[in-house]
Amino acid sequence: MLYILIVIVLLISLSIPRSYGVTDTIAPGQALTVHDKLVSKNGRYALGFFEIGVSSSQKSSNWYLGIWFYGVPKFTQAWVANRDKPIKSPTSLELEIYHDGSLVVLNRSTSSVIWSSHGNMTRNNKFASKSNDTVAVLLNSGNLVLCNSSNPSIVLWQSFDHLADTFFIGAKIGWDEATGLNNRLVSRKNSVSPASGRYHLELDPSGVDQVVLTASNSSVPYWSSGVWNGQYFPSFPESIKQPVANMSFVNNSHQKYFTYSLLNESSYVVYQHLHVTGQLVTFVWIDGSQDWSPVNAYPKARCDVYAACGPFSVCNDDVPPHCNCLKGFTIRSPEDWELDDRTGGCLRKNPLGCIANGNTTSSTDKFYAMTCVSLSQSSNKIVAPQNISECAQACLDNCSCTAYSFSNGICSNWHEELLNIRQIQCSSNGETLYLRLSAKDLPNLQKNKRGFIIGLATGTSVATLSLFVFIMLTLILRKKRESSIHISYGAQGCNGMTVFRYTDLQRATKKFSEKLGGGGFGSVFKGFLNDSTTIAVKRLDHACQGEKQFRAEVSSIGIIQHINLVKLVGFCCEGARRLLVYEHMPNGSLDIHLFHSHAALLEWSTRYQIAWGVARGLAYLHESCRACVIHCDIKPENILLGDSFVPKIADFGMAKFLGRDFSRVLTSMRGTIGYLAPEWISGVAITPKVDVYAYGMVLLEIMSGRRNSCVPCSCGNNHDVYYPVHVAQKILEGDVRSLLDHRLHDNVNLKEVEIVCKVACWCIQDNEFDRPTMVEVVQIFEGLREINIPPMPRLLQAIAGSSSSTCS
Ligand SMILES: *[C@@H]1O[C@H](CO)[C@@H](O)[C@H](O)[C@H]1NC(C)=O
Ligand SMILES: *[C@@H]1O[C@H](CO)[C@@H](O)[C@H](O)[C@H]1NC(C)=O
Ligand SMILES: *[C@@H]1O[C@H](CO)[C@@H](O)[C@H](O)[C@H]1NC(C)=O
Ligand SMILES: *[C@@H]1O[C@H](CO)[C@@H](O)[C@H](O)[C@H]1NC(C)=O
Ligand SMILES: *[C@@H]1O[C@H](CO)[C@@H](O)[C@H](O)[C@H]1NC(C)=O
Ligand SMILES: *[C@@H]1O[C@H](CO)[C@@H](O)[C@H](O)[C@H]1NC(C)=O
Ligand SMILES: *[C@@H]1O[C@H](CO)[C@@H](O)[C@H](O)[C@H]1NC(C)=O
Ligand SMILES: *[C@@H]1O[C@H](CO)[C@@H](O)[C@H](O)[C@H]1NC(C)=O
Ligand SMILES: *[C@@H]1O[C@H](CO)[C@@H](O)[C@H](O)[C@H]1NC(C)=O
Ligand SMILES: *[C@@H]1O[C@H](CO)[C@@H](O)[C@H](O)[C@H]1NC(C)=O
Ligand SMILES: *[C@@H]1O[C@H](CO)[C@@H](O)[C@H](O)[C@H]1NC(C)=O
Repeated sequence: MLYILIVIVLLISLSIPRSYGVTDTIAPGQALTVHDKLVSKNGRYALGFFEIGVSSSQKSSNWYLGIWFYGVPKFTQAWVANRDKPIKSPTSLELEIYHDGSLVVLNRSTSSVIWSSHGNMTRNNKFASKSNDTVAVLLNSGNLVLCNSSNPSIVLWQSFDHLADTFFIGAKIGWDEATGLNNRLVSRKNSVSPASGRYHLELDPSGVDQVVLTASNSSVPYWSSGVWNGQYFPSFPESIKQPVANMSFVNNSHQKYFTYSLLNESSYVVYQHLHVTGQLVTFVWIDGSQDWSPVNAYPKARCDVYAACGPFSVCNDDVPPHCNCLKGFTIRSPEDWELDDRTGGCLRKNPLGCIANGNTTSSTDKFYAMTCVSLSQSSNKIVAPQNISECAQACLDNCSCTAYSFSNGICSNWHEELLNIRQIQCSSNGETLYLRLSAKDLPNLQKNKRGFIIGLATGTSVATLSLFVFIMLTLILRKKRESSIHISYGAQGCNGMTVFRYTDLQRATKKFSEKLGGGGFGSVFKGFLNDSTTIAVKRLDHACQGEKQFRAEVSSIGIIQHINLVKLVGFCCEGARRLLVYEHMPNGSLDIHLFHSHAALLEWSTRYQIAWGVARGLAYLHESCRACVIHCDIKPENILLGDSFVPKIADFGMAKFLGRDFSRVLTSMRGTIGYLAPEWISGVAITPKVDVYAYGMVLLEIMSGRRNSCVPCSCGNNHDVYYPVHVAQKILEGDVRSLLDHRLHDNVNLKEVEIVCKVACWCIQDNEFDRPTMVEVVQIFEGLREINIPPMPRLLQAIAGSSSSTCS
């Protein structure tokens, strides 16, 4: 549970605006301190010092000089000067033009150079100029240039020649004779630290006119752009079909590089970078969700990346989490794994029982068969063995052999680390790999299966519990110190929570006088904090149930924040009292607006925005946070409406954590009839797809303005039809207009209605694998993904067939 205690706190030094205003230039004699920043003229980029704190027990943090996107509210590093030489303390830090004309980071009090634009000061004498000729300017492109003040076209140094992991528009990847540099992108070590990682985007070192992605420990590229044909790179299909970017490849005697520009720069904020996963990913800023949205990734499949999950792991493109340890192995470094750094891979739980003694080898190991895998790592082909048992023996006879396979009469053995194992669809030609394990890891299959399920269930609850214990511990420590009541933890974007005293909440709610609502677990009251913010206070009753719900809420939404998730402001935990404090939602919950006749009619455009917003909130819950959270109770009652009807998902009392190494979780049935996915009923372990199902049901209700459970409709033959089935039929017939809430009087955008209809019908498919992920749903709304006509959900049809007579 170490990784839970090592909580990463990203402290972004928010610069305090100076009285003299922001500038984009440092002139000789001026200095940029830790509190200042340069901002490009167009306001898109800023340069300054920022802090990334790895706040474990020893509270250390690293300082970097870098450029970030200034036009967007989410802190996004784009360039870092000292990525591999972090500065430990911000005391006396300054950026200035040095007396030799270079740009340096100085310790003012000791006058020592910590970082310099011309490396370790021994390279050449190009900078031996007078410093008062030189200025540093942050250009609109995000390029930090050191140039001659009287003649800015004389560039002495530029950050574009030393890219980190971000491919700026207009920057060049490749070789330049003038600087002698071969510029390339190097991924980050993990999702927090900007230190150099293992993946590179560079010109093909073999001289072919293409760019390639390579891993530092492998000489063979795992992706290439294809050879430049004069107009485009064959492996960038988007650049051919829908040209948004103008890519060019230049080859002459002085330089050879790849660059790109946007055809319409004003329309997007683009962030293209070499991701920690080893993929070149392009993000576009979406104002609506206040977040980056991925547009494309190369290679498309993350399992195509060399050693994507590290040694002794299996990569799965279809089902998150994409990386899992092989059987008998456990994650080497959970902290790194949590931060998307998979280089360590997995470790053997029990050492192999193999002793080599001269020319004889004795081994007690066994083999575990993994079906439907593909292995791209090269193996040793062994000629002698004629059948599978001889092949197994050949592996046992060599203590460095870790796996074998036998197919088409060929015996292959793998030695030492196993890399690039990939789970594939069984219908395609997958192989069976026999993995060598200690006999201790394979005692008895029957027993093992149960152990796995128990492990899965306890693993998750232990994780939840430890988080809870951690919160409580922090709380107790705080109380002892009687100091500030602000806990700051979680990751970037996760603000702190306040721990309230019971008496404060009593006062805030005027002794719990104004009740907003009630539920199975407790009642909700309106209140006011000192600064007159309105809050909703949920007081949990029933000690035991309440405790469970309290824990679920604090550990799930306490650590994550998103515009479409209701914000947990804080909590109170005194004796047996458990209270949760949320931001107050002036417009109540969605069910009131949809189903109550006295509520004002929700216009179509509002409904569409609500559908989209809920999808974003769920997508964030499922994929963007460190641990996947399944809400388990999506229904209109749990969708609150904020100012201007921005939807916020609420009530996380039933939420389940899905640990990083699990794709499913076993849990007792929970949720609400009418929104329950079929897999609940069959009792298998669930995935985030149960939320997708419930979301589909909610979409139908948003469209019809009625409960799905009993929507009578005149379908010509005077039969009441279960509405979801009716929808599926109408989509197949191509008639969606008749499905709409008649109160809307056709004041709708039919294209949007069609999208919502199709999305809903895909979401309620019986088979969870047929349903889209919430991320895909968001992409459909954003127009980044096509959607086909969905098939009829059969189970629903069957249920409807047997129950239509009882529905009135
Ligand atoms: C600068 O030097 C002072 C005195 O040696 C030291 O306390 C401080 O931590 C240094 N700052 C940096 C950024 O190294
Ligand atoms: C300093 O630069 C020279 C020339 O580029 C290089 O050979 C040397 O290894 C560098 N030294 C350090 C400590 O980085
Ligand atoms: C540049 O610096 C030199 C030496 O400090 C000084 O003599 C000269 O006047 C300066 N030039 C300008 C333009 O400031
Ligand atoms: C800067 O430009 C001026 C005028 O063109 C020139 O005299 C000076 O030598 C240049 N300085 C450098 C460092 O190139
Ligand atoms: C490369 O492989 C060596 C030996 O396997 C390992 O020690 C090193 O950490 C690897 N480097 C990277 C960047 O993965
Ligand atoms: C694309 O970029 C190249 C090189 O920068 C330029 O020559 C060409 O005109 C650009 N094409 C378009 C359509 O902008
Ligand atoms: C690129 O330039 C090199 C050196 O100038 C030359 O040998 C090579 O043929 C060029 N490639 C193309 C495609 O023009
Ligand atoms: C560029 O995008 C802006 C904003 O989306 C749009 O108004 C403008 O017409 C576009 N220009 C071109 C040439 O497409
Ligand atoms: C090991 O091999 C060597 C040479 O192949 C042989 O002389 C020796 O007797 C063998 N030892 C055993 C224990 O088989
Ligand atoms: C494999 O081949 C060996 C020798 O050729 C033979 O003794 C053994 O019975 C065979 N095993 C199987 C399962 O066919
Ligand atoms: C085991 O296999 C490795 C790799 O093929 C080989 O180098 C080594 O000599 C083998 N060891 C024995 C004892 O056969």
